[in-house]
Amino acid sequence: MKLYINDLSINITGNNKNKAVIFVHGFPYNHKMWDKQIEYFNKIYECISYDVRGLGASEVGDGQYTMEKYAEDLFSIIDKLKLETPILCGLSMGGYLSYRAIEINQSAFNSVIFCDTKAQSDSDEIKLIRANKIKQINDAGLDLFIDEFLPTCFSTNYKFNCVEKYNEIKSLCKANNPIGVKGALIAMLSRTDSTHFLSKIKIPTLHLCGEFDTLTPPVLMEETASKISNSQFSIVPNSGHMSPIENPDFVNKTIENFIISNN
Ligand code: MLT
Repeated sequence: MKLYINDLSINITGNNKNKAVIFVHGFPYNHKMWDKQIEYFNKIYECISYDVRGLGASEVGDGQYTMEKYAEDLFSIIDKLKLETPILCGLSMGGYLSYRAIEINQSAFNSVIFCDTKAQSDSDEIKLIRANKIKQINDAGLDLFIDEFLPTCFSTNYKFNCVEKYNEIKSLCKANNPIGVKGALIAMLSRTDSTHFLSKIKIPTLHLCGEFDTLTPPVLMEETASKISNSQFSIVPNSGHMSPIENPDFVNKTIENFIISNN
């Protein structure tokens, strides 16, 4: 089923008698990055994936987004669909959103799966890189930005051995409205830091990180997980920053075991 809530394009499949899992994609992708997870989990769980405001099929509006607005969007989906303590699963930017959402109200969630993400806000250096990327999109268009950014997200193995799929993902990213992409860059660079909150997280958390992830490396994610009382950390073999796409079998099995052991 496909529906719109507050300008957001939402996809729902699976069994609504069972626990809901909400998948929040990374930047600058859309809900389709979770295809392999949804195909696997909708046999048992209710799977909800949506396009973050400004990306994919969700409304672009004025392009003025904040992480706070993204979190508000997530809570409005939970409220409108009357979901009872869903499991939250976010990758990278979706993970930043997830950290902010549980900081606002962790009791709204059963547990959280963090894929290839971090709790830290952007350093000044990264803020300036993002400012330059916005300028680049304005001056040279979105395609060049995607051509330069996407290779940093995937492992060499994936880029060379899964060319067709990689090119499909590239086209999907290029199909975004540049205003939405720039809005996401501003939301990320202006987000707050969640590291002070790690010791206060009480719900179960799973932290998955691609072995070759250079954007949010395993050492950083492992250190973050160690600061959370109820946490599990796993390295995803043969994968870069996009572990759910690059090694779906490992990711799905690990998530499945985590959900079963916490329900
Ligand atoms: C993502 O995958 O969402 C991005 O790499 C996040 C970022 O640029 O910080």
